[in-house]
Amino acid sequence: MAKKYKLKRALGLRDTTLYGIGIILGAGIYALLGSGAGVTGNSIWISFALSAVIAILTGLSYAELSSMYPKEAAEYNYTKNAVRVRSVAFMVGWVLIISVILSASTVAIGFAGYLSHLIGGEITLIAVGLLAILTFINYRGIKESSRFNTVSTLIEVSGLVLIIAAAIFISGNVNTDFFEMKNGFAGVISATALIFFAYIGFEDIANVSEETKNARKVIPKALMLSIVISTILYMLVSVSAVAMVGSERLASSKAPLAEAISSTIPNAGILMSLIALFSTSNTVLIMLVSGSRIMYGMSSQKDFPKALSRICRRGTPLYAVLATGAFSIVGVFIGGLETVALFTTIGIFISYLFVNISLIILRYREPMKKRPFKAPLNVGKFPLVAFLGAATCAAMLLYFDTTIVMMEAAVIAIGAVAYIMMKR
Ligand code: ALA
Repeated sequence: MAKKYKLKRALGLRDTTLYGIGIILGAGIYALLGSGAGVTGNSIWISFALSAVIAILTGLSYAELSSMYPKEAAEYNYTKNAVRVRSVAFMVGWVLIISVILSASTVAIGFAGYLSHLIGGEITLIAVGLLAILTFINYRGIKESSRFNTVSTLIEVSGLVLIIAAAIFISGNVNTDFFEMKNGFAGVISATALIFFAYIGFEDIANVSEETKNARKVIPKALMLSIVISTILYMLVSVSAVAMVGSERLASSKAPLAEAISSTIPNAGILMSLIALFSTSNTVLIMLVSGSRIMYGMSSQKDFPKALSRICRRGTPLYAVLATGAFSIVGVFIGGLETVALFTTIGIFISYLFVNISLIILRYREPMKKRPFKAPLNVGKFPLVAFLGAATCAAMLLYFDTTIVMMEAAVIAIGAVAYIMMKR
C-alpha cells in the first residue's frame, strides 16, 4: 500500500515573516514603480501609501481569519465557512489561483528582462527556464523553498536600503515637488491600481499555515509584520527614487531603481540589476509555492481533481507543484508586465473583497469560535476594519479598464464551466 505523506510543519515567526516580505517585495517596486510614476508623476508615493491602507485593512481580516482557520487554500476555506455555498468558495479559490499563477509568469518575464539586459539571451526562453528550475525547488520541499527565500529576501531588502541611503546623501540638493499629480487625484488612484501589485503576497502567508509551527498565533503576527515592514520600505524608496531622478526619468526606464541609483553612485546600476534578479526570482518561487498549496487545499476538500492533493515523499504536493509550474510556463506566452500585473491585481481585489465579507459574516455565524487574533475597531460584533477593507477593494475594482475587466470575466466564466463539469 502506498505510504501517506503529510506537509511538514517547519516554519517559525522569523521564517514566515521573511516569507511574507520575500513575496511582497518583487517586480512591483523594482519594475512597476516606473510605470506608476508615469501615470501620476512625483506623487507616486501617495499611491504606495493608499495601497498600504488597503493592504493593512485587508491584512487585519486575514490575520483574524487565519487564527480561526489555519489551513492552506485560505481564501477558499474562509469563504466556504462564511458563505457556506461551495460553488462561491470554489470561484474565489479559482480566481486566486489564476492570479497567482499569472503573476509568477509575469515576474519571471521581469526577471528575464533584467538578465537579458545584463548578459543577453532570449526573454521567453529565460523565463521558461527560471520557472522550470523554481518548480524543481518547490518540489524539493518547503524548508528548501524557505531557505532560498530567506537569503533572497535579505538581498532584496539591502537593495532598497541602498536606494534610501543614496537619497540621504543628496538630500540637501533636492528640489522636487513631491505632490505633483500629472492626472489629478484620479491619476493617483489609477497608479494605485497598478502598483498595488507591489503589496500582493502578504495573504500567501496564510497559505503555509499547515507548514507553520503554532500557526494560529504566528501567522497573524507574520502578516502584520511583513505588511508594515514592506510599507516603510516602499514609502522611503518611492520618495527617494523621485528625489534622485524625478518621475519622468523613472517612467521612461525599464529598470527604474537602477536608473535612480546610477544618478548618485555611478556603476551601481549593475549591482541594482543583480539584486532585482534575486528579488524577482524569489517572488516567482513563492508564487509557485502558494499556487500549488491553494490547489492542494482545494483538492483535499474535493473541489479540484484528487491527484492534486497527493503528497510525495519530499512532503510536497507533487502534482499540484507540476500543474502550477506548467500553467505558469503557458502564462509566459500571454502578455507584458503591466497588463498581466493589472490582470493579477483585479483577481486579487475580488478575492480580498470576499475575504473581508467572510469576516463580517463569520462574526455573526461563528461568534463563539476561538480567535487567537481579533481585528480592532468593532461596533458590537461588527468589524469596522473588514467593512472598510471590503469598501476599498470594491472601489478599486472601478478603476480597471475594459480589457482587463473582460479578461477577468472570461476567467470567471471558464471557472464556472469547469466547476459544473467537475460536479457532474
Ligand atoms: N508583490 C509582488 C511583487 O511586487 C507580487 O512582485
